[in-house]
Amino acid sequence: MGGRLEGGIAVLDFGGQYAHLICRRVRGLGVYGELLPHDMEYGELKKSGAAGIILSGGPASVYSDGAPTADPGIFRGELPLLGICYGYQLMVMAYGGDVTKAEKREYGRTRVTVLTGGGLLDNMEGESLVCWMSHSDSAARIPATLDVLASSDSSPYAAVRLAGASQYGVQFHPEVSHTQNGLTMLSNFVFGVCKAEKNWDMNEFLGDSIRKLSLLEGSVLCAVSGGVDSSVTAAMLGRAIGSRLTCVFIETGLLREGEGERVRRFLGPELGVHVEFVDESDRFLGALKGIRDPEEKRRVVGKTFADVFEEFARTRGLFAHLAQGTLYPDVIESGRSTGPASLIKTHHNVGGLPAHLSMSVVEPLRQLYKDEARELGALLGLPREVLERHPFPGPGLAVRVVGEVTEEKLRVCRGASRIVEDQLRQEGVYEKVWQAFAYVGDDEVTGVLGDERRLGHQVTVKVVESVDAMTADWSRLDPGILERISSRITNEVAGVVAVSYAISSKPPATIEPQ
Ligand code: XMP
Repeated sequence: MGGRLEGGIAVLDFGGQYAHLICRRVRGLGVYGELLPHDMEYGELKKSGAAGIILSGGPASVYSDGAPTADPGIFRGELPLLGICYGYQLMVMAYGGDVTKAEKREYGRTRVTVLTGGGLLDNMEGESLVCWMSHSDSAARIPATLDVLASSDSSPYAAVRLAGASQYGVQFHPEVSHTQNGLTMLSNFVFGVCKAEKNWDMNEFLGDSIRKLSLLEGSVLCAVSGGVDSSVTAAMLGRAIGSRLTCVFIETGLLREGEGERVRRFLGPELGVHVEFVDESDRFLGALKGIRDPEEKRRVVGKTFADVFEEFARTRGLFAHLAQGTLYPDVIESGRSTGPASLIKTHHNVGGLPAHLSMSVVEPLRQLYKDEARELGALLGLPREVLERHPFPGPGLAVRVVGEVTEEKLRVCRGASRIVEDQLRQEGVYEKVWQAFAYVGDDEVTGVLGDERRLGHQVTVKVVESVDAMTADWSRLDPGILERISSRITNEVAGVVAVSYAISSKPPATIEPQ
């Protein structure tokens, strides 16, 4: 190991929904944080040179069979430690205390009184802080070796410290923004307790990555979609290898309005990026004919994309490398690597691409979160319009057209989505929401146009708020905005007579209708 984690913070992942957030908070402080498997060996952690360890929360009960555990070496009081929620309860157990089902669960805002300041709670002694709790188990007995630093009504041991050591545990979540002084606590831990030094800076990362990418031999192929991740990847490679980079934009017929034009406008000679445009919309739409099942649509789009890409690579000459805008959460979630990420990894068959392409895969963003990729994009001079784009699904409008994908439904979906985005931009709301679009199915409803009753499309507008797309809530937009969106859609998109607004959260609904 060693390398990137040296002087940084190892965040052990016990499956809590905020594990990534802890890592992002650490990086936000300018210190490298890496999410690692919860059972990472202590020896490996020591060897990595990490300045400290954070144990995340998690959904399990520490006393249940098969509950995830940490290497006991962590609890020798050597390396600085911060156990959060489940991680805290593991720490209590490891040092000889008891954790049981809480008599009274605590969810959400809770008042925590700081009894002893210093270290993690530096300058907070005597304060009553609003902290965010989310637990149904709690520490019932604390061993004599753990000093109690803070308490709440239902958690007498809300924060503890291993006597005379740099190890802390908190029942609440300092990483969430609702916890008062939460970020200060993390900063106290990272800088005050772990003595970490700032070692994570996007400017340095950019310079470093461009230097490494410029060492690549041969030519690189990069597919660009107009989204943030592939655009940042292309711009970075443009700086590093110039004319040895070929980007390809594939028009699938399933993209948002003006996507190709947008790519032409912002990725170009000034970023050192040459983009070839391939229109394969007939092929995609032909392959999707008659298919209604969403999973089948996904499969067909993925396969067609792989075929087109392979043909392109074969006919345009040999490419030594294939560049992708894979981000850190994708790397973690696909289980491909939880060890220290390297800039360049050689493997095949990524994203459904055939193995015999035999290009090595280059993923310059694989250590980054989305907001970090956006920061990098800003440093590279990409326009705000690109950096702030909402996520867009790989299968494109095929999953926003319910039922069979037809040209007519695509026209309606594309036109209505453009209006949703455009109106939200005008109202200053676009950047505040996670995703905003329209979808359309086969429903036809009766409308009145002039004096005539006429059947027409029903379009649904969906605007959601989310942090990580795992859960999402519908956006409580001002009714005036909704009205303006609705009237623009019925006036500007021919054939639409009714507009509805989706008010289901995820779960039970998903963000995309299919
Ligand atoms: P759902 O619909 O599952 O979506 O709530 C969660 C997030 O993922 C995006 N999404 C996809 N992205 N290929 C993708 O690349 C897909 O098949 C796909 N399906 C959903 C969706 O836009 C949302 O941000």
